[in-house]
Amino acid sequence: MSAIAHKSVPLPDDIRARKGGVPIVSLTAYTTPMAQLMDAHCDFVLVGDSVGMVLHGLESTLGVTLEMMILHGRAVKRGLSRAMMVVDMPFGSYEESREQAFRNAARIMAETGAGAVKLEGGVQMAPTIAFLTGRGIPVMAHVGLTPQSINTLGGYKVQGRGAAGEALLADARAVAEAGAFSVVLEKLPAALADRVTEAVDIPTIGIGASAGCDGQILVVDDMLGLFTAFKPKFVKRYASLGDEAEAAIATYAAEVRARAFPAPEHVFADTEPMK
Ligand code: KIV
Repeated sequence: MSAIAHKSVPLPDDIRARKGGVPIVSLTAYTTPMAQLMDAHCDFVLVGDSVGMVLHGLESTLGVTLEMMILHGRAVKRGLSRAMMVVDMPFGSYEESREQAFRNAARIMAETGAGAVKLEGGVQMAPTIAFLTGRGIPVMAHVGLTPQSINTLGGYKVQGRGAAGEALLADARAVAEAGAFSVVLEKLPAALADRVTEAVDIPTIGIGASAGCDGQILVVDDMLGLFTAFKPKFVKRYASLGDEAEAAIATYAAEVRARAFPAPEHVFADTEPMK
């Protein structure tokens, strides 16, 4: 598998310049070891608020806090030397006012070393995006299915079907005009994702969108088969690590019960040098 050859960590402007070019590769990460594995292969890594569901067992992303995002952001940053890191702003940390958004985004940037923050919302959040980008905080936008709004969207449904497509186009245009350097398009019809990609001058990053987007993102635990509580249609499992891990744990448990582990090579003799 070939790794990408970055001269240095890409900046949001480098990602913006990839519009219409070789597709941008990204995955989510929440820990140092996983970030290390993807550093050579991804253009940017997202510390997504999906961490709440994937690692903390929450039912939705609504319970994720700023402190959790900062803690995981710091861990991921330690694993990256080539890919840019984007950190999600969690629910309740930016919607109240532009000032609240700036204060919390500034904390994320300063305390994690992120290159940018991501926030959910289209037309409604455009003034906030303009406020942040005008004050030195690069913003990745996120429209379509915005999981922090499941209670008003009525669940994790495909967005922008039929007449709602125009509103979604307006959302994407609004965040691009407000200064977002890229926009995640989540769970919308492929033809609409292609229209949005044509309509805006910033890269679109698809998840459940279209192969025509300027880039793609997946939740890493989904694509590795580590998170198996449910599998959205848009997830392709590239591995079944959850099954492998469970089989390994079952073998370990059986060997402990049978006193087959530890074996002689795993224990220390009196005569062995202290190590
Ligand atoms: O939180 C997350 O993982 C995300 C991606 C699904 C885009 O926002």
